[in-house]
Amino acid sequence: MAFPVRPIPYDRPMKLDRLYNTADFREAARRRLPAPMFNYIDGGADDEWTLKRNTAAFDDYEITPGQLNDISAVDTGIELFGRKLDWPVFLAPTAMTRLFHHEGERAAARAADATGTLYSVSTLATTSMEDIASATPGPKMFQVYIFRDRGLTAEFVERAKASGYDALCLTVDTPVQGNRERDLKTGMTIPPRFSLKSALSFAAHPHWALTTGFGGFELENVSHGGGGLSGKTMSLLQYIHTQFDSTLTWKDAEWLREHWDGPFVIKGLQSAADVARAAQLGADAVMISNHGGRQLDSAPAPVDGIAAAVEAADGRLDVICDGGIRRGKHAVIALALGAKACSVGRPYLYGLAAAGEAGATRALTRLKEEVTRTLALMGKQNIAGLSSGDVQRL
Ligand code: FNR
Ligand code: LAC
Repeated sequence: MAFPVRPIPYDRPMKLDRLYNTADFREAARRRLPAPMFNYIDGGADDEWTLKRNTAAFDDYEITPGQLNDISAVDTGIELFGRKLDWPVFLAPTAMTRLFHHEGERAAARAADATGTLYSVSTLATTSMEDIASATPGPKMFQVYIFRDRGLTAEFVERAKASGYDALCLTVDTPVQGNRERDLKTGMTIPPRFSLKSALSFAAHPHWALTTGFGGFELENVSHGGGGLSGKTMSLLQYIHTQFDSTLTWKDAEWLREHWDGPFVIKGLQSAADVARAAQLGADAVMISNHGGRQLDSAPAPVDGIAAAVEAADGRLDVICDGGIRRGKHAVIALALGAKACSVGRPYLYGLAAAGEAGATRALTRLKEEVTRTLALMGKQNIAGLSSGDVQRL
C-alpha cells in the first residue's frame, strides 16, 4: 500500500479568516490538538454541569436596545489596575500554555497586547514570568498559587515587583483539584507521556507533534524551587496534591495583601459573604469565578453572581466576571449588570492551539468586534453608558 503523501487533512494550515467565532476556534483547536491536550482545555469537573451553565446562564438575559443615538465612534475602553485597556475583556491565567502551542505564553501575551488588553500569567506557566514580562510592554497580572514551600510565594511577590507586573491575583478555589474525568480517560499527563496510544495520537497530529510535542516542557516559575517536574511525568492531580498548600485560609490572603502594594485581586469567589470579606481585607478586585467549571461542579454561573457581589462590595472593590464568555454580548451583559471587566480562558486558548499568536489574536479580535457591535446595536457610545436597566432576566 502506498504511503499517503497527501498531508493529513486534519493538519492543514488554518484559514483564520474563515473562523468567525469562539465555536469555530474551538473546533479548529479540536482538530489541531491530540485528545489529551484538547480535553484538558475544554473539559470541566464531574458532570460538567457548571461548565455548561457558565455559558448557558447568559441565555437567561435579554438586552433591550435604545435607538437613534449617534454611535459613529463607539469607545470600548476601560481603566483597570491603573492601566488603560482598549476593551473590557482580558485574558485569565491558564496553566501550561506550551502544551497547546510551542509559542506558549509569549504568544498569548502578544495577542493580548495586539488587541489592547491585559494578560494574566499563571504560577504554572511554562515560560518564566520575567521572560513573559519582557515579551511585551502591555498590562500584566501575575496569578499566585500557594505552594507548600512558602518561600516560593514570597519570591513571587518580589519577582512580580521586579519585573513590573501591574497586579497580583490569588486563586483560592483550588485547595484540591476538581474531578476532571476527561483527563483520566485520555491519560493526560505533564509532560505528555509517550506510549503506543499517544504515539498514534501524535502521528495523527503531526504539526502539533513536531512543533510542540517534542519541545522542552517545564513549569518555569517554580522549577528552581522544587516545584518543577524535574524530568518526571505525572498527572496534574498528582502535581497539585503534592505541591499546593491545602491549609490556605484568609490569613494567607491577608499576608499577600500586606506584602504587595499594587492592585490585589482574589480569584475564585462566588458568595457575597466572601466578597465582603475580600473588601474588608483591602482587595482591589474579586474575580467571580468557578475556575471555568473545572473545580466545584454545581457551582453557580459567574454572571448570576454579579449583582450580589456588587452589592456586597459596596463600592470598595471592582467585580470581574470570569467564566462562560464566548460572545461579545456575554461580556456586555456582565458589564451592564455591574461588572467592571470580564475575563476569558478557553476562548484565547482555542485560538492559540489553532494557530499560535495569530490564532489567539484573531480569536480575541473577533470577540472584541462583537463587543463593539453589541454596544453600537444597543445605542451605547461607551461602557460607562451601560446600566442594569439595559438587560432583563427572563
Ligand atoms: C485555567 N484556569 C486557571 N486559573 C488559575 O487561576 N490558574 C491557572 O493556572 C489556571 N489554569 C487553567 C488552565 C486551563 C486550560 C483553563 C481552561 C483554565 C481557569 C481560568 O483562569 C478561568 O477561570 C477560566 O478559564 C474561565 O472560564 P472560561 O473563560 O474558560 O469559560
Ligand atoms: C487548571 C489548573 C491548573 O485549571 O488551574 O487546570
